[in-house]
Amino acid sequence: MPQDLTTADMLRVLAQATTTVTAEHTDLTLPVDGTLPAALDGLLLRNGPGRFERGGRRYRHPFDGDGHVTKLDIHRGAVRYSNRFVRTREYQDEARAGRMRHRAFGTNLPGGILGNCFQMRFKNAANTSVRWHGGRLLALWEGGPPHRLDPHTLATIGPEDFDGRLKNPFGGLSHRLTPLLPFSAHPHLDDERGDLYNFGLVSGSPNRLMLYRIDPQGRMHPPREHALGRFSFVHDFAVTREWLCFLLPHADFDVPKTVFGLKTAVGSLKIATERPMQALLLPREPGARRPLVLTGPPGFVFHVAQAFDDAAGRVVLDVIRYGLYPDFDAFEDLFRSPPNGAMPRLERLVLDPAAQRCERLSLGADVDAQGFELPISAPAPLGTPQRILYGVGAPPGRRAPYLTAIQRLDTDTGRLTTRDFGLDLTGEPMLVPGDGDDEGWLLSLVIRADQHRTDLVVLRAATLDIEAEVALPHAVPIGFHGCWVPRAALARGG
Ligand SMILES: [Fe+2]
Repeated sequence: MPQDLTTADMLRVLAQATTTVTAEHTDLTLPVDGTLPAALDGLLLRNGPGRFERGGRRYRHPFDGDGHVTKLDIHRGAVRYSNRFVRTREYQDEARAGRMRHRAFGTNLPGGILGNCFQMRFKNAANTSVRWHGGRLLALWEGGPPHRLDPHTLATIGPEDFDGRLKNPFGGLSHRLTPLLPFSAHPHLDDERGDLYNFGLVSGSPNRLMLYRIDPQGRMHPPREHALGRFSFVHDFAVTREWLCFLLPHADFDVPKTVFGLKTAVGSLKIATERPMQALLLPREPGARRPLVLTGPPGFVFHVAQAFDDAAGRVVLDVIRYGLYPDFDAFEDLFRSPPNGAMPRLERLVLDPAAQRCERLSLGADVDAQGFELPISAPAPLGTPQRILYGVGAPPGRRAPYLTAIQRLDTDTGRLTTRDFGLDLTGEPMLVPGDGDDEGWLLSLVIRADQHRTDLVVLRAATLDIEAEVALPHAVPIGFHGCWVPRAALARGG
């Protein structure tokens, strides 16, 4: 397998991986190559950008693509496939108009200053994740509210405000820009109580973290609010038995240039990765203890692989840390001339509230040597350390964050198992646990380079051996996150 891919190879496949989906299918039975384990009985749901242009004009940034949800319904070794765009208000408006009418985070409208000045209500791309909880299927995007989908048809029901709990209470400009509060794409489930925790970052004066808790029946508690001392940007967080943990980088946002349309919102975000992040610990139970701020490592963290409290009262976070924040305003340059430090690395942070310090630990020489992203671990009660982590990755020697492998790390021994797919791009693996000691299976949508095709690949989690492949009826573009819904959970609504 090639390890030093050429820039031309990577850009060619990335262009293939960001091609607009033109057809929607319903319950199409797909041929299976290999044998799907009988234990796979449920829905694999994925979300990602699926439409990259409107009215002949391409989005400047692929991450602005309109949310496109795929559903693979697996039962008794057979697979039925459905896909739908998330029909947000903006999607429907632009479809009717046949042109781009809403400014996106990474794409300004045509017309320069005149076209963008004071246009600060951004399109909800609804493209980052899809989650099932409390009888609701939700398409998530961190800049705005979730959208509720019908789990059977994937039809968009509309924005979900959780019985009004997500209505923006802050009035004035904040309310006009986001009438419903943002709800991040990285909620975390308390597997014991069944509560789902999430947050939303609300810019303003002050900048605020909104903290959400949704019970197993889908009812949201009154949101909590935590004012931040300064602007920051956070994509994922961690929940332990004791704490809600946020790693806040030192960020700046060029408000005037964004307001006047001289820059995109993505281009206006600057993160000083040479400065330490703040590790903010908020009590999981309101008032249980005082919030704490510790000095973390420099860099930036998109994703948290797992988090738990250890016996000494410390908080352990396995995170994907970037030495440099990727310059997403120049997406292709990440692969053309990648800067040193652009590769995401998995490492362990140990936050010690008593000693007021944060320690960085290696999880092994093998994982230090190669990229790791889109991490997952097995579902487990909060506070239970997970020995095995999975994710996508890049073999040693790869310079750009071009992720083509499925990886498994044993955090006790540091043993890293990698299955590399060469030029093919691997999607976030989803774990379906087996019975007892059986680790189960990993499911990933793999984009086949130069074949205009996407396959569901099913791997045995313990060995990364491929058990089955299922060719989808069309190429599914590069995606972000999703979930596995066991059929029993779908039937009981939670
Ligand atoms: Fe994410």
